[in-house]
Amino acid sequence: MTTSRRHYHITTFGCQMNKADSERMAGILEDMGFEWSEDPNQADVILYNTCTIRDNAEQKVYSYLGRQAKRKHEQPDLTLIVAGCVAQQEGEALLRRVPELDLVMGPQHANRLQDLLQQVFDGNQVVATEPIHIIEDITKPRRDSKVTAWVNVIYGCNERCTYCVVPNVRGVEQSRTPEAIRVEMEELGRQGYKEVTLLGQNIDAYGRDLPGVTPEGRHQHTLTDLLYYVHDVPGVERIRFATSHPRYFTERLIRACAELPKVCEHFHIPFQSGDNEVLKRMARGYTHEKYRRIINTIREYMSDAAISADAIVGFPGETEEQFENTLKLVADIGFDQLNTAAYSPRPGTPAAVWENQLSEEVKSDRLQRLNHLVATIAAERSQRYMGRLEEVLVEDQNPKDKTQVMGRTRTNRLTFFTGDINELKGKLVKVRISEVRAFSLTGEPVEVREVVSV
Ligand code: SAH
Ligand code: SF4
Ligand code: F3S
Repeated sequence: MTTSRRHYHITTFGCQMNKADSERMAGILEDMGFEWSEDPNQADVILYNTCTIRDNAEQKVYSYLGRQAKRKHEQPDLTLIVAGCVAQQEGEALLRRVPELDLVMGPQHANRLQDLLQQVFDGNQVVATEPIHIIEDITKPRRDSKVTAWVNVIYGCNERCTYCVVPNVRGVEQSRTPEAIRVEMEELGRQGYKEVTLLGQNIDAYGRDLPGVTPEGRHQHTLTDLLYYVHDVPGVERIRFATSHPRYFTERLIRACAELPKVCEHFHIPFQSGDNEVLKRMARGYTHEKYRRIINTIREYMSDAAISADAIVGFPGETEEQFENTLKLVADIGFDQLNTAAYSPRPGTPAAVWENQLSEEVKSDRLQRLNHLVATIAAERSQRYMGRLEEVLVEDQNPKDKTQVMGRTRTNRLTFFTGDINELKGKLVKVRISEVRAFSLTGEPVEVREVVSV
């Protein structure tokens, strides 16, 4: 039996912003009458939402794309789309490299997918990478989870970290209005979502492009104000936000997090390097002393808060001693989790053309040493959960053990326990922790919390 429904497939690379964009683009495609196909080879529209943060991320895209470009020769009505950060970085050059492409669209154009596809169906090859004002999303995203959701609050980034492509590919900061954010969260609450993560590449910049200044001279709309404004959205039981920038992280924000019961005690604040000289050349705008002060303040307000971060090793010119300052910071702070990466030179960024690049050997050696330390420290940090009662929001079945479900603590530790997903999905369960590992926990369910939504 054949069906006349046309199918789409999206493969997403990169960060949470890309995942959120993909969910909105999937929503647009479903609105247009397309149906999801898990298998890209059965799809009539294939969309790669791409990442270019490091060279290996970019190369992965080309290998996927090559395979589908070949398929297009046998199936000429296949529509091939490259969206996201590689699309923005390469623009028309991507069409020269892969002439089979129908549409190349930068991240700012995600909400315009329907328009752009219409132009493709009218017989055009389309490139949409000019900077635009991001239009509010009018469709319903097709979200991967029914329990946790992402909500963009600010697009783009105005920082100029010397290693980073994000400002080039994501454009200038554009904050959504508090009202639009609240409306989206209220809808999520009505649909039964329990957890919302507010998203921005530099979320502490939220609101500085919106009009309005207080009598004390500060911006009227800040992330702190936004948290107070959305905090009472019915149904939403947990609020998280990412990614924080140490340059702008304020005590006022920390106080709000301590005060507002739904805001979870987990902070993702990338430090990138523990050495002041390296931080300066990265143009990060803070010292390791300031970073330590922020973490100390967080712990004064919330002694049990989990701290995670990103770090780069092998930045151009980084000496062994400077790298050891990163190790020292990691040991001193005691991170619950750390995303680590070897520096990768990116086109169009200042540090890429500096002459003091380090060899791949040095970079990978430092990466290994750092990862080893991270695992040791995370294992130590996990110890504190032993025997404790933790509230876990159940998201899914444990893919490796169908008798178990999995979810996260408020501090974002992945936790497994015995249970039936059909009964427990989306429930907040008190779990007695009986096993601890570096990055996950196992426990026994004690009590399911009944949430009374108003
Ligand atoms: N906006 C966030 C992070 C954005 S990119 C921030 O300001 O911290 C996510 C992470 O990728 C960064 O934190 C950094 O650790 C890493 N990264 C970015 N550019 C990189 C590069 N050129 N090489 C290696 N890692 C990089
Ligand atoms: Fe990149 Fe820096 Fe902006 Fe983060 S703050 S996205 S690292 S430029
Ligand atoms: Fe990658 Fe773009 Fe995110 S480069 S990390 S997908 S902003």
